[in-house]
Amino acid sequence: MEHQSKIKPKQESFTRSAPKMDKLILSPVGYPLKAGDESSPYLSTDDPSLFQHYARSQWVGLVVKEGNFLFDSLIFPDYAFRAVTVEPKESQITKKTKIFLYSEQKADPGSKIFQQHTTFAEIIGQNQAKEKCQIIGKFLRNDDLMNSPWAPKNILFWGPPGNGKTMMAKALSHEIKSSMFLIKASDLLGIYVGDGARKIKNLFYEARRSTPAIIFIDELDSIALKRNFQSIRGDVVELVSALLGEMDGIASNHGIITIGSTNQPNMLDSAILSRFEDLIEFKYPNSSEREQILTLYANQSPIPFVDISWDIIGQETTEWSGRDLKEKIIKGAIHHAVLTDRSKITMQELTDSIQKANLFSENLTYYS
Ligand SMILES: Nc1ncnc2c1ncn2[C@@H]1O[C@H](COP(=O)(O)OP(=O)(O)OP(=O)(O)O)[C@@H](O)[C@H]1O
Ligand SMILES: [Mg+2]
Repeated sequence: MEHQSKIKPKQESFTRSAPKMDKLILSPVGYPLKAGDESSPYLSTDDPSLFQHYARSQWVGLVVKEGNFLFDSLIFPDYAFRAVTVEPKESQITKKTKIFLYSEQKADPGSKIFQQHTTFAEIIGQNQAKEKCQIIGKFLRNDDLMNSPWAPKNILFWGPPGNGKTMMAKALSHEIKSSMFLIKASDLLGIYVGDGARKIKNLFYEARRSTPAIIFIDELDSIALKRNFQSIRGDVVELVSALLGEMDGIASNHGIITIGSTNQPNMLDSAILSRFEDLIEFKYPNSSEREQILTLYANQSPIPFVDISWDIIGQETTEWSGRDLKEKIIKGAIHHAVLTDRSKITMQELTDSIQKANLFSENLTYYS
């Protein structure tokens, strides 16, 4: 009861007159006013319309701006939600306000909650993709634009592994704070024939109920094989036709953007490939980008890197991906320093780490 009195002043400040709210996205917070209570359950729903009903039935009339807390009084008394998106900026909840629960975990097949908060600023290079994501963000924030025939619809991220395709999707998800469905194409393949097609249908159905929404299908090549390979697996054929149907927007996909991701666009069925209006290439970083990626991660290291000629290392690592630079060079050097109880990492240790990683990939080539 004590905490209810703390809430009151805030609720009272909500009663001013303000424009009608179009859209509200709420992020579940837990019990911020209960000192010492660590157990704040994470809330999710697989029925957005039920959540909308639940939210409207208790908060209609409140004037809210971004950052405000809204407290539940129906199911979990004093459970708090924070308003992460309010449109217009400071406005009043009405019976028509679209209210969503902020969640990156909506679809059943293989979707993920991304606890880490990747931002665009952490992605070095890949400017074409960043620009495209900015365009997507602008469309998603404007209903008129989003419901026009000019809205982005199907986009393909392609390029060699480890160069930021998934990272870009995570950053986009973080940036837009609206519905985002992230799935691995291989997770769409079920045990029984028909599973995959059902999962695709469910996925688009869920997305349609929580527009604006982005569907990110990672590792698309694992299902969208060329026709001659598809015949090996009947369920793949079924899945591909379900996906083609959805991408064509047979059931009207206004407000949904599909982003596919693949290392091998040449493996994709031409029918699938032709559905993508834009093919965005993720290239290996150039020498100066490699230097920036290395320093970005070196600066996050618990053991300091000292007197490193990052420019030289940047020049020596042609065709190393962002993942290689982080996981093989930086992580390798940190692990070695931990093993040998060093308090700093020098140029010598770093070049050892590169040589070791080089040897590793040469051995792999030898055995493949
Ligand atoms: N351009 C970049 N800037 C900063 N870090 C990067 C960059 N590219 C890759 N990384 C690092 O490498 C990791 C792996 O990248 P990511 O998973 O996005 O690659 P991907 O292109 O999706 O690879 P795959 O094709 O194998 O799925 C990222 O989480 C990040 O730590
Ligand atoms: Mg990926």
